[in-house]
Amino acid sequence: MSDIDFVTIRPIVNGVARKVAVEPRQTLADLLREELGLTGTNLGCEHGSCGACTVIVDGKSVRSCLMFAVQTDGCTVTTVEGLASNGDMHPLQQAFWEQQGLQCGFCTPGFLMSAYELLQNNPNPSDDEIRHALSGNICRCTGYQHIIDAVRQAAQAGAAPAAATPDMVAAPAAAAS
Ligand code: FES
Ligand code: FES
Repeated sequence: MSDIDFVTIRPIVNGVARKVAVEPRQTLADLLREELGLTGTNLGCEHGSCGACTVIVDGKSVRSCLMFAVQTDGCTVTTVEGLASNGDMHPLQQAFWEQQGLQCGFCTPGFLMSAYELLQNNPNPSDDEIRHALSGNICRCTGYQHIIDAVRQAAQAGAAPAAATPDMVAAPAAAAS
């Protein structure tokens, strides 16, 4: 039996202050999926190539399969579950639906989060800029055009306003486990 030193971290995930005890080797993806039940973040390649695990940490997209959970102590983390608000889809989600940009449930969350980061920084991107922003997200089943169309529509609809932010923290911190 091995002794594992757990580390208590306090990230803000989708606007909710969390307090969780993690192993130093635990990835952010595993924290989100296994400890916090946020299974919209998916693991494909698990080595930084496919983009399925993309989430936003302190405003920047990261591969959650490559980031350790302990690195998010004190950080703001947004996952695909944090996009919708009060049951209403985020404009990006609405546009993906309307433009048939939805691919499988495995790759789509990563596309949404990369597009979300893009529109936060560039509310009116060109098609080339959209393609560049999504170039790290891999799907072998699409020609990508519907996804480009969806991001363009979302930009035109004004999708730049942020999703959950620390100002929206409503729930008490979860107990460390
Ligand atoms: S699972 Fe993280 S990049 Fe593929
Ligand atoms: S990997 Fe999701 S539809 Fe191709």
